[in-house]
Amino acid sequence: MATAKPTKTKKTAAKPARPRGVIKKKPNAYGAPARTRRVAPRRAPWPHLGHPSSAVVVTGGASGIGEACALALAEAGRPVAIWDRNDEGAERVAALCRSRHSVRAHAVTLDVADSSTFAEAIVSSANVCGPIGGLVHAAGIDGACMITDMDDEAWDKVMDINLRAAAILTKQLAPSLIENGPGSAIVYLSSIEAFFGHTFLPGYAASKAGLLGLTRSAAHTLGPSGVRVNSICPGAVDTPLLAPLLAIDGVRENLEARTPLLRLADPSDIAKSVRFLLSDEASFITGASLVVDGGLTAVSGI
Ligand SMILES: NC(=O)c1ccc[n+]([C@@H]2O[C@H](COP(=O)([O-])OP(=O)(O)OC[C@H]3O[C@@H](n4cnc5c(N)ncnc54)[C@H](O)[C@@H]3O)[C@@H](O)[C@H]2O)c1
Repeated sequence: MATAKPTKTKKTAAKPARPRGVIKKKPNAYGAPARTRRVAPRRAPWPHLGHPSSAVVVTGGASGIGEACALALAEAGRPVAIWDRNDEGAERVAALCRSRHSVRAHAVTLDVADSSTFAEAIVSSANVCGPIGGLVHAAGIDGACMITDMDDEAWDKVMDINLRAAAILTKQLAPSLIENGPGSAIVYLSSIEAFFGHTFLPGYAASKAGLLGLTRSAAHTLGPSGVRVNSICPGAVDTPLLAPLLAIDGVRENLEARTPLLRLADPSDIAKSVRFLLSDEASFITGASLVVDGGLTAVSGI
């Protein structure tokens, strides 16, 4: 009677698990010299949409677009640190993120024009929210003032909040974003005013155009480390920032009529685009600016 040969089981040495986020080197598909590549990111509760699980700092998160961004990111399972000069608003939004979406959320009261406060805010945010892998710079003012009335103080104020804060914060958060990648990304809130002049908004328009230059340059610097940098250029969004303009008779109706989608944006329209750019769905988008304006600039400006 034939006896079955014992099958040889080949002993394979167990591969040591590669810690997540560690860089592995591989030549690329086109035979170019070896480049640094990163292993797949960890997934948050919306893994099918590729949301990293790292925390996101949202400046200006106490109101309007920043608030909507914090809530949209929390909905996707991301912990959020809300930085704003409005302490009550920041606490309120942090509490909403926790209660509605069960994520870690932290409120920090600061003035983004004062960059000396950033280091401490980064530490406290990471302590509460965990590793930081995202930044949304939504803090902003319109600094309305015609160029013929402009003085040093008015110019510096709008530049410091809208533009300088974005640059210094990017520098200070870069080590954390690189460390906590892959999947780390930055989104600046620019504006369609970056493309159009406005007699009352020379400082605002210059700061928003400046953000597009910063976007491209920071994307160039941080891209090789796996960090993407993009801007969103909203059109007219129904928030407290736009309230004085919308209070003028006929302005709202006129804007709505000139917008192909026949309405102003809700802050959530902008937040969905920000969340997309912070997700792996946008994995090959960097140095770009995305216009989200219901078609307004396709046919005219504000
Ligand atoms: N609303 C629009 O139509 C519109 C259009 C295009 C771009 N944007 C841009 O979107 C961003 C958000 O605007 P919004 O409409 O939500 O305005 P908003 O006034 O509702 O919110 C701005 C938030 O930034 C905070 N902030 C302002 N200065 C700050 C400072 N120095 N330090 C810390 N926090 C500060 C405010 O407290 C507020 O919570 C701004 O950068 C704005 O320029 C808005």
